[in-house]
This record gives sequence, C-alpha cells and structure tokens, in this order.
Amino acid sequence: MNTYKIAVIPGDGIGNEVVPKALEVLKQAAELNGTFQLECTTFPWSCDYYMEHGKMMPDDGLEQLKKFDAIFLGAVGDPARVPDHVSLWGLLLKIRRQFKQQLNVRPAKYLKGLESPLKNPKGFDLVIVRENSEGEYSEVGGRIYQGEDEIAIQNNVFSRKASERAMHYAFQLAEKRKNYVTSATKSNGIVYSMPFWDEIFKSVSEKYNIKTDSFHIDALSAYFITKPEMFDVVVASNLFGDILSDIGAAIMGSIGIAPAANIHLDGEYPSMFEPVHGSAPDIAGKGIANPIGQIWTGKMMLDHLGEKNAADNIMSAIEQTIANGIKTPDLSGSASTKEVTEAIISYLK
Ligand code: NAD
Ligand code: IPM
Ligand code: MN
Repeated sequence: MNTYKIAVIPGDGIGNEVVPKALEVLKQAAELNGTFQLECTTFPWSCDYYMEHGKMMPDDGLEQLKKFDAIFLGAVGDPARVPDHVSLWGLLLKIRRQFKQQLNVRPAKYLKGLESPLKNPKGFDLVIVRENSEGEYSEVGGRIYQGEDEIAIQNNVFSRKASERAMHYAFQLAEKRKNYVTSATKSNGIVYSMPFWDEIFKSVSEKYNIKTDSFHIDALSAYFITKPEMFDVVVASNLFGDILSDIGAAIMGSIGIAPAANIHLDGEYPSMFEPVHGSAPDIAGKGIANPIGQIWTGKMMLDHLGEKNAADNIMSAIEQTIANGIKTPDLSGSASTKEVTEAIISYLK
C-alpha cells in the first residue's frame, strides 16, 4: 500500500467548504482503488491566521511543507480584512515561488451537460501552460515622487531558463495530445520581454515536430470565445496565462469547475494543487460553492502522484454528475455543495 503525505491548506472563504468535500471524494477513490492511501495534515494558514499572528503562515511554514508529497490548497484572500497583495504574497505566491513551482497547468474542456455561454462550444479541449514563477508578477519596481506627480514602476522579469522550461513542457504535453502549441505574445506593443519570448518560442519549437502558432494576447483572448476548439496546448506568460485561464473556465460554464496544478519539476519540493477560482467572498458560508474545481484539482493531484486509475474514476464521476444535471447555482442548478459531492461519490461507487 502506497501512502502519500498531503499537506492540506483550506485557506479562506469557500476554500473551507470545497476542500473538505474534495478530500471526501479523494479518500473514497483511494479506498475503492485499494492500493494507496492519503495521509492528510491540515494547516490553518489563512487571513484568520493573519488576524491572530500578523502573518499568513509561521516563519518555518515552508520548512514544514517541504516534507510532503503534495500540497492541496483551497483559496487565499479576504480583501475586506487583509489587502490581497499581503495575503497572496504571504502564502500562495510564496509557496509557488519558494518551491519553484514553475508551471501552472490549467485544462479547460467542454463537458456534456454544461451550459457554456458560447453559442456552439463544439467540444473544445485545451490546456493552458502558464509560466508560474516570474513575468509580470515581480517584486521589482517601486514608487517615486508624491502627490499628483507620483509614479509606480512595475518591472517584468523574463528569464530564458523559465520561458524555455514552460515551452518545453507545453511541447511535450502537446506530443501526448493533439500536436499543436499556441504561444501568447504581445510583441507588437511590448518591446523587450515579448520579442524575447517569441525568439525563445521559435528556437524551442525547432526541437519538436509540432504545429505552432503565435497570437497576440488580445486576438488570442477573442479566439478563446469565437473558436476555442482550434486550440490544444497554449503556452503563456504568468499574467497572460492567468487571464486566459479565467476565460477557459468561463467558456466551460463556470470558474467553479476549473482545475489547476502548480508543478515543480526538479524533485526538490512538493507540487501544489489549487483550483483556478478564488475564495469567492460573495458566496462564502452559503453552502452553494461548486466543489468540482477543487475535486478536479484533486484528480490532477492523483495523476501527478501516479494514481491514474483513481484519477480517471474521479473524472468520470464528475462527468456523470454534470451530465445528469446535478449542479450548483453557478451552473444554473439548484444543488448544494454537499449534494454535488454526494452525487460524485455515488457515481464513483
Ligand atoms: P473568485 O474566483 O473568488 O470569484 C469570482 C466569481 O466567481 C465570484 O462571483 C464567485 O462567487 C464565483 N466563484 C468562484 N469560485 C466559485 C465556486 N467554486 N462555485 C461557485 N462560484 C464560484 O475571484 P475574485 O472575486 O476576484 O477574488 C476573491 C478573492 O480570492 C480575492 O481575495 C482574490 O485575490 C482571491 N483569489 C485567490 C485565488 C487563489 O487562491 N488561487 C485565485 C483567485 C482569486
Ligand atoms: C490564480 C489567482 C492568483 C494569480 C492571484 C490570487 C494572485 O488569480 O491562481 O489564478 O494571479 O496567480
Ligand atoms: Mn487567476
């Protein structure tokens, strides 16, 4: 019996509602599979923790997390009490950076029974590979002058190594899928980072026998709406990938179902699994958060741990639940978080 040690961080808002539900599903899938188990340790790090301790996690927090096989996180953010840049850089982004989780892998695909806002979602099935360690999310910059002359300067950081890494990952993923990689650029308007990104994309693409395209992010965002079925793997910088992944979620039908994996590739630190959505303060505490984003994210964690059978079973239980119309209000249904979870568990069995 394989035992995987999982660090669980529910975080804020609906993270506290969907994470326990996803764990019920994961544990059930493990039990039915019979060859592995999850040993979960929960950490209360969140904005509540911040209100009490003045920090989002203890000073040795990363040291505590390092020994786990994976991290399963809900969502971080309670902007009414803690500024977002403080809570996010104190926990989520800190883990992504310090644990060198260089890729954020975010699939989006049409599932039968979903009401996509698109007139004809035509079975799109794509994966966004988002560079996750640098780019537009940088701590380089500052503020100068005061009053009406005040200026904020935010620098972008693009390294050859991290860009290459995201692109190689995208090409290798496309080799297992539909052999097509699209790069998100903006080299018509941004004069240093994006021409550099394009050059690297071209040189990486020469190492693979794969069809490629490169589109400016504005046009690419529109194609996500007008013809998402054209895409296979889309590789993007940190911010462009962030935006594209909310569009990918929206065209599926709701951000509440979109999964994500923050992948560390060098075997030194754990990878972290957290859905695309945030803490959703507007619906927190009502018992209606869609648990599917968190559950599908758990499926990605099992794939990462090598438990493909159990992962596939979870995906088919999600698909059956949606196809049978058991949906939370974000998908125009009337089921609760609990009811959707129970349905997924019953289809698993
Ligand atoms: P959000 O994703 O929390 O919410 C956007 C909209 O989607 C809201 O209307 C919300 O009700 C809905 N929604 C989100 N998840 C849902 C679910 N599972 N089921 C049903 N509806 C769902 O984004 P936001 O409002 O921009 O951010 C809220 C807080 O979360 C902020 O503090 C933000 O910084 C943070 N955030 C955290 C993460 C993360 O931890 N990974 C991601 C995004 C935002
Ligand atoms: C996400 C979120 C985060 C990001 C925020 C909360 C910093 O939007 O995981 O998509 O931009 O990476
Ligand atoms: Mn986002």
